[in-house]
Amino acid sequence: MFQTKLCEILNIQYPIIQGGMAWVATAELAAAVSEAGGLGIIAAGNAPAEVVEQEIKKAKALTDKPFGVNIMLLSPFVEEVVDVVCREKVSVVTTGAGNPGKFMGRFKEIGTKVIPVVPSVALAKRMEKLGADAVIVEGTEAGGHIGELTTMVLVPQVASEISIPVIAAGGIADGRGFLASLSLGADGVQIGTRFICAEECVVHDNYKQMVIKAKDRDAIVSARTTGHPVRVLKNKLTKEFSQMEKAGATIDEIEKLGVGKLRLAVVEGDIENGSVMAGQIASMVKEIQPCGEIIEDIINGAKEQLNILSQYKKEE
Ligand SMILES: Cc1cc2nc3c(=O)[nH]c(=O)nc-3n(C[C@H](O)[C@H](O)[C@H](O)COP(=O)(O)O)c2cc1C
Repeated sequence: MFQTKLCEILNIQYPIIQGGMAWVATAELAAAVSEAGGLGIIAAGNAPAEVVEQEIKKAKALTDKPFGVNIMLLSPFVEEVVDVVCREKVSVVTTGAGNPGKFMGRFKEIGTKVIPVVPSVALAKRMEKLGADAVIVEGTEAGGHIGELTTMVLVPQVASEISIPVIAAGGIADGRGFLASLSLGADGVQIGTRFICAEECVVHDNYKQMVIKAKDRDAIVSARTTGHPVRVLKNKLTKEFSQMEKAGATIDEIEKLGVGKLRLAVVEGDIENGSVMAGQIASMVKEIQPCGEIIEDIINGAKEQLNILSQYKKEE
């Protein structure tokens, strides 16, 4: 059930992709998601190529299933990371922070599927023309760096304009969100926040507990004035950001405050001074579970929801 065109293209059982998340999405998480029938993604973030290579090798040792690498196009090591990904013949590449056009030919040559993250209809159309295999349409509800439009409005607009598969991201954590995404015209979903609380995710336990305790209005947008807004859970750091912005600090000063802060929260567990990136759906994440259970819960929830909705058909 729910075998979409995306499953065929990516050779996966369920159309559920685990979002590339810098520092969070390591080989352990990616392999566990792929083993559970979704598509796991290793996030390259700003890591040097050797680190990405080790993660790819680790994931290959943990699973025979396809997995992907998320390449941050603004990374200082982007060229070397692309070299490694091509050398290792990774099945899927997702890209963030820019246009992957420059590398498209190399990926295509070795059969690597390319799936850029897009925040607008215009960029989705450009990516289709460039030869992308699918696009991830990410709404502003998502954790991490965000665009302006919501998943609810962006997914159907993109789906109406392109013919490659659309993957909905931002604010999806259960079967209802999964089914809603398919109704909006998506062929699958990308999920970040819920996978932070996967048992196999290496994130510090303080971070996981903060996501679990989060309420509906706790995931706010920080650093909007820099032009690179980021969705994070409210803490001491977000207060500092907002005070600096109110005091008229320069973009450079504000950006400097953010340096190293995701690592501080993910690795050190400092959830007051670190950047606890998470999406608006955080309050629906209630427990730490293995990836297999998370995926099963989403698929079973979608089936149940489909049953509930079928009553409207009978009533016609
Ligand atoms: C902690 C964190 C780090 C992220 N880092 C990246 C990244 O490095 N590259 C990227 O393309 N997206 C990144 N994202 C976005 C996710 O891949 C995904 O699209 C998003 O989390 C989906 O929305 P959700 O959080 O509502 O599930 C990050 C998200 C989070 C929560």
